[in-house]
Amino acid sequence: MRLVVVGSQWGDEGKGKVTDFLGQNADVVVRSQGGNNAGHTIMIGKEKFALQTIPSGIFNPHIKNVLANGMVINPKETLKELAGLKERGITNFQLFISNRAHVIMPYHILLDGAYESLKGSHKIGTTKKGIGPCYADKVNRIGIRMGDLIEEESLKEILSSTLPLKNKELKMLGLEELDFTTIYNEYKEYGKILKPYVCDTSLLLTEEIEKDKNILFEGAQGSMLCLDHGSYPYVTSSSPTAASVPVNAGIAPKYIDHCVGICKAYTTRVGEGPFPTELHNELGDLIRERGHEYGTVTKRPRRVGYLDLVVVNYAKRISGIDSLALMLFDVLTNVEELKICISYNLDGKEIKTIPATLKEYARCIPNYITLKPWHENINKVRNYEDLPIEAKEYIETIEKYTNIPVDLISVGPERTETIIRKDVFKK
Ligand code: IMP
Repeated sequence: MRLVVVGSQWGDEGKGKVTDFLGQNADVVVRSQGGNNAGHTIMIGKEKFALQTIPSGIFNPHIKNVLANGMVINPKETLKELAGLKERGITNFQLFISNRAHVIMPYHILLDGAYESLKGSHKIGTTKKGIGPCYADKVNRIGIRMGDLIEEESLKEILSSTLPLKNKELKMLGLEELDFTTIYNEYKEYGKILKPYVCDTSLLLTEEIEKDKNILFEGAQGSMLCLDHGSYPYVTSSSPTAASVPVNAGIAPKYIDHCVGICKAYTTRVGEGPFPTELHNELGDLIRERGHEYGTVTKRPRRVGYLDLVVVNYAKRISGIDSLALMLFDVLTNVEELKICISYNLDGKEIKTIPATLKEYARCIPNYITLKPWHENINKVRNYEDLPIEAKEYIETIEKYTNIPVDLISVGPERTETIIRKDVFKK
């Protein structure tokens, strides 16, 4: 079976826990787009691991972990992440990096920061990891790919034609130019260390599919951060939707069997841009503290709001979500004023979709339904039937307005603190 996990909001929905949980039944775990802008926090027992580039199957020696062609990879940071895992005893793992994935170079990071500063109040609020400039070079056909990084001659040839262009850009932005020899020598070394992991991952995945293996495509970011369908321009530079998985992993679309949408029981976003259900009050602060809503990558406090089902339904439309995993549900215990947004009012008209332009989206006023709170601690609940009636009503409201079954409910950060209503990923 091939299962895709997608974030159904603005990222940070708790995909790390779900992919780790579902990964127990996976033979292969794949990341197909984005780079170290993503941050997955995984609890294994009492130990906390924060992953940025490496897939969550890395903790299981039997799982093949793939960084596919649609990714942008920072070799220096990837090696640091691997060294960090090794230091904590994770030494027996299988990792495969696509020879077609693009390499994040030092100038991408500098340019990301410079463009953000120049944009002033119009800044995107990027993670400043060089993601956008790296994808821009891919589109401009001046990128360096992993296959080039590991071949000294290719690296030399491409870098010597690209760096002068990038240096012109850096100079124009008032930044210092970079020295060819320094970068070449440094990146050539990363290439040497990473070489054993680099291969044609499209071929590897297709062979695994032919062997009928269980493949989990773990999501990064969320649907509203999609370059094509998200809240543009406040988006990332790739597409974190299920539709992007085949092209970003080099497999045929017909091989995707099921899509799980990860949905936080409320909404958060980092970075700038409209957020209709945002809470600018004590309740927002309370949820932020209880849910530890601070960026894994940037440590920025996340903006917090009520659950917005217009957003979730939009994600359902563009990704074809078959089931939902409801995350951080326990955070809402004892929240007296519980609301769920089911539509917006835009210029006096009710709408149930996301408008294309920022100006229109900023004018959207949420229409809420109010729900009754529950007060019982739900961390230890493992059967849906044992949840307080009000908690079940919250879940059933989500199902009613999205027409998607909530198959998994997370009631605490640990792997075991999970209610499974339907096992979507069987061996
Ligand atoms: P970039 O991906 O660094 O270019 O950032 C573009 C936007 O996407 C910013 O608002 C980031 O905060 C957001 N973003 C990128 N990756 C993630 C993620 O993994 N979770 C949440 N937001 C993200």
